[in-house]
Amino acid sequence: MKSVIDILDLSVEELDDMIKTAIDISAHPDRYADRCRGKKLATLFFEPSTRTRLSFEAAMYELGGNVIGFSEANSSSASKGESVADTAKIVSCYADIIAMRHPKEGAPYVAAINASIPVINAGDGGHHHPTQTLADLLTVYRERGRLNDLTIGIVGDLKYGRTVHSLINAMARYNGNKFVLVSPPELKLPDYVKNDVGDKAEFIETSDLMEYMDKFDILYMTRIQRERFADRDEYNRLKDSYILTPDKLTTAKKDMRILHPLPRVNEISVKVDDDDRACYFKQALNGKLMRMALILHLLELNDGKKFPAIKGESGYVCKNPTCITSTEQELENAFKKGKDGVYRCIYCDKRAD
Ligand code: CP
Repeated sequence: MKSVIDILDLSVEELDDMIKTAIDISAHPDRYADRCRGKKLATLFFEPSTRTRLSFEAAMYELGGNVIGFSEANSSSASKGESVADTAKIVSCYADIIAMRHPKEGAPYVAAINASIPVINAGDGGHHHPTQTLADLLTVYRERGRLNDLTIGIVGDLKYGRTVHSLINAMARYNGNKFVLVSPPELKLPDYVKNDVGDKAEFIETSDLMEYMDKFDILYMTRIQRERFADRDEYNRLKDSYILTPDKLTTAKKDMRILHPLPRVNEISVKVDDDDRACYFKQALNGKLMRMALILHLLELNDGKKFPAIKGESGYVCKNPTCITSTEQELENAFKKGKDGVYRCIYCDKRAD
């Protein structure tokens, strides 16, 4: 059984094949209109969404399939205390594939190891968002004609911005990419992301958006993630750290492309929307095409076997309050050793200490 919890669950060959499929779907939608006839997608959204949920649903309808699900935890039996594991087992009786968003990191992984159908992580806390990365990859490929040898500026909330973590993991697997990480010191990229990448890509860190503006091939703006802050004063202090306005683009390359996973708050002025380099609305359309390609891919691979559980070691307790183990007490704490020798929780990747 193939599930996609982390973008690393997909090989580079699979990513490249899905990009080809998405481009073909865009050119010949009629050829795909019946490909999922009789199949059901369950969208289990325990956290708000516009793009991810609706594009998954549109994707399944455009493949000829049907959709069931819920858009908030309060309309599911999670509100009565049902576990993620039981929810996954139950939904496996009703659907052929699950897309799950959850505020707790590791929840879609728990669903995947308990379901008997493929599970797609549609965003778990501040951890991963692999299908946003699929949208990002198709956008970069269509706009720049390649996924390698690019200088990628990533700006904003690199700590809690799950789309950033998945994007770096994906783009680092293509040769010659360089990342310029632009954030306030408080919102720097978590070390587990760099640990996953190892020496496959070069990183430069700065807090100055303009320092490398003339070098970027891709400028990936992100929102400061209000919902992940425990301290509201800290959010208010950091929320306007970076605001992209037309005057800031004067030194940027003419063929640079501006991406943003959206929603934006005010980190990109609406005056930038008319700039030919702005791609964030095309990116949302690309998300639907890649989700169609992913649904097809996972349904074709479904062999009925369970998604394998990661073998971890016990002996530590995860102290991350946003890890799924913090609310689902029956889950056993387990940690795995990274390339840097540090033990991290198998659910949320936070360090054991
Ligand atoms: N990019 C993204 O995940 O948007 P939604 O939260 O609207 O799904």
